[in-house]
Amino acid sequence: MKTERLELSAECYEDSISRAAELLESGGIVAIPTETVYGLAASAYCEKAVEKIFTAKGRPQDNPLIVHISDLDMIADITDGFDDKARKCAEAFWPGPFTMVLKRGEKIPKSVSAGLDTVAVRMPSDKVARDIIKSSGLPLAAPSANTSGSPSPTTPYHVLNDLDGKIDAVIMGEECQVGLESTVVTLCTEPPRLLRPGGVTVEELLKILPDLVVDTAVLSEPKADAEVASPGMKYKHYAPKTETVLVSGSVDKFSSFVNNKKDSLAVCFHEDLDYLSVKYLSYGSIKNPETLAHNLFSVLREVDSLKVKTVYIHAPDKKGVGLAVYNRLIRAAGFKIIELH
Ligand code: TXA
Ligand code: MG
Repeated sequence: MKTERLELSAECYEDSISRAAELLESGGIVAIPTETVYGLAASAYCEKAVEKIFTAKGRPQDNPLIVHISDLDMIADITDGFDDKARKCAEAFWPGPFTMVLKRGEKIPKSVSAGLDTVAVRMPSDKVARDIIKSSGLPLAAPSANTSGSPSPTTPYHVLNDLDGKIDAVIMGEECQVGLESTVVTLCTEPPRLLRPGGVTVEELLKILPDLVVDTAVLSEPKADAEVASPGMKYKHYAPKTETVLVSGSVDKFSSFVNNKKDSLAVCFHEDLDYLSVKYLSYGSIKNPETLAHNLFSVLREVDSLKVKTVYIHAPDKKGVGLAVYNRLIRAAGFKIIELH
């Protein structure tokens, strides 16, 4: 299959949006930018198209998809009951990097939710994503537009690297602003539960959902036989092929630790740079975890090209967006963590 590249310069913006909508209406799959990461979209009403997403990504069949909407009036067709709690969350966090798990409505095929009777819904803030949803008039099922297991894509070039020839089109948009996938909260449990941390932080969530609990899978390795609330959490994710180890500790401790390791690469903060005598890739400033989130996946995609034996990644604090960065890093490192305290 030839993958169409749909450009977004001022002269072709409208044509590209209409072309994407047309492909989606006819059962195609199209990679679209969102403010979090690129998504691989299909009509949430079309089982055949949804099946194509699983095939193109090599995604395990038991991992459900998020349905994307542009307006709140689309919600009635997707969920079965949208109560006060859900409405409060929507008012506080939509449009934006926030996903709610609710009871699945009858119009959404089971395959979108991998057989579950719940459905994950998100209203993105990205203008291009919203214009495509509006133009097609369809809720769009969209996981991240990467091959399963590799880091989520934050540019159209990452998408092409993984999926060129396997999808109908990719929108050649800009780099994603947040850089990590959305925060996922289920409102189908009592109390509500954080399944995946993201751009909307726990601190912000607690203002709207004071009884929110954090699922144990957020910060630890799920047990092999345990039932996982969010199936995506049990898979090894975001992993470079190079052996990857996560290291927590101060700038001094981190730099002396990696400087003693032969044939290694440091994925570090700007603040570490003056102290390192090994190869490095900086992913942002420790003072600004948003920069770490923004750059993380691009940097993880570069690691293998540097051809070292082991990469040591400096772990951020688990505060604010740092929690989401930490959650992705423990998975990238296959839960190999060294604490230098
Ligand atoms: O920011 C994002 O959320 C991006 C963009 C494209 O919107 N999408 C994304 O999708 O990250 P994906 O498929 O890579 O991750 C979806 C996560 C998975 O961990 C999945 O298990 C969980 O959401 N999920 C989806 N539906 C669920 C459900 N009904 N119950 C529990 N977890 C669910
Ligand atoms: Mg994903």
